[in-house]
Amino acid sequence: MSLRLRGVELRNRIGLAPMSLYRAIDGMPNDWHFVHYGARSHGTGLVMVEATAISPDGRVTPHDLGLWHENFLPAYRRLTSFIEDQGAVPGIQLCHGGRKGSRSRPWDGDIWIPEELGGWQVYGPSSLRFAPGYPHPQPLTHDGIESIKSQFVTSAHLAKLAGFKVLELHAAHGRLLHSFYSPIANQRTDRYGGSFENRIRLLIEVVQDVRTVWPEEYPLVVRLSCVDWVEGGWSLDDSVRLALVLRNLGVDVIDCSSGGIIRPLQKVTAPGYQVSFAREIRNHAGIKTAAVGLIQAIALLQHVVSSESADMVFLGRKMLINPQFALEALAVDSGVSDFIPQSYQRAYASLKTSPNEFIPEL
Ligand SMILES: Cc1cc2nc3c(=O)[nH]c(=O)nc-3n(C[C@H](O)[C@H](O)[C@H](O)COP(=O)(O)O)c2cc1C
Repeated sequence: MSLRLRGVELRNRIGLAPMSLYRAIDGMPNDWHFVHYGARSHGTGLVMVEATAISPDGRVTPHDLGLWHENFLPAYRRLTSFIEDQGAVPGIQLCHGGRKGSRSRPWDGDIWIPEELGGWQVYGPSSLRFAPGYPHPQPLTHDGIESIKSQFVTSAHLAKLAGFKVLELHAAHGRLLHSFYSPIANQRTDRYGGSFENRIRLLIEVVQDVRTVWPEEYPLVVRLSCVDWVEGGWSLDDSVRLALVLRNLGVDVIDCSSGGIIRPLQKVTAPGYQVSFAREIRNHAGIKTAAVGLIQAIALLQHVVSSESADMVFLGRKMLINPQFALEALAVDSGVSDFIPQSYQRAYASLKTSPNEFIPEL
């Protein structure tokens, strides 16, 4: 079942979830990204490129992708044009890591890199740090906020020039935009802190500014942490309220994730554990939603879409293990074969025949 978002048609409801590879050098995409995203453009409706920093200081690790200079454009264009040739729509998630930035990669220990060792100053709404082992962030000044907004705008403009057709703003997992709207991280007393209206202001202003450069015919997605999983934190009711505001500002889809603002979490995970967030926001804010999180069984994937709990499903870790998972899911689902690349069709046909079947000479 296809999905139309503004002027963009996704051939089906399956998206690759944004997942950082930590393989870039100075923000630049390379063959690792080309091969990884290229392989996952078979069968998927949408390929969402990982959290991509709007500035060097907005990176989480020194190996994050970036989009702050036009030098990056040829490498991204090669990627977007291959993804489109395979029939998927290329999307990109823009991110500022906020107070969780300047860290080594997970396999390098996920430890803080101080400035003298090549790291950078991290910023947040207040000086509260995320957890022990993380630096105390510098609270953003009003000038700093203006510069973050203009960096989002520049990156969105570059994303358009790079050939992306879907733009997602990363406002989840304790990244900068989430740290402003969550009362757990934001202790400001100015117009960006305190009340609900003040805490959502930075995200709202970024959305408004980005919408002025992101084409009218292309969809804008916002990933939210729909709950903070902690007493006194951001709640699902808050997310519904925020989604209503975002819908009226030209956001087309809420990508429904959760958590990441505090440790330890009171988080309970089970298959489809975030689907109810997507359903509630869809039903109460009247906006399209994407469900994500432990959707790994084909039957569950089909159920989320057919029960209209969400308009689409993002697949994460399952697609890291098996780049062809979307194709397999679609082949099971009423034998849809249109999306199978011709080069792979005999393999899928053989799934339905006996293992002893005659294999013709090549
Ligand atoms: C290796 C890895 C990298 C991730 N990087 C990002 C990211 O760049 N941006 C983001 O919003 N979420 C990121 N996530 C979260 C995924 O998008 C997804 O929400 C999460 O893995 C749950 O979905 P799953 O159970 O299908 O994996 C990452 C997850 C993994 C496993």
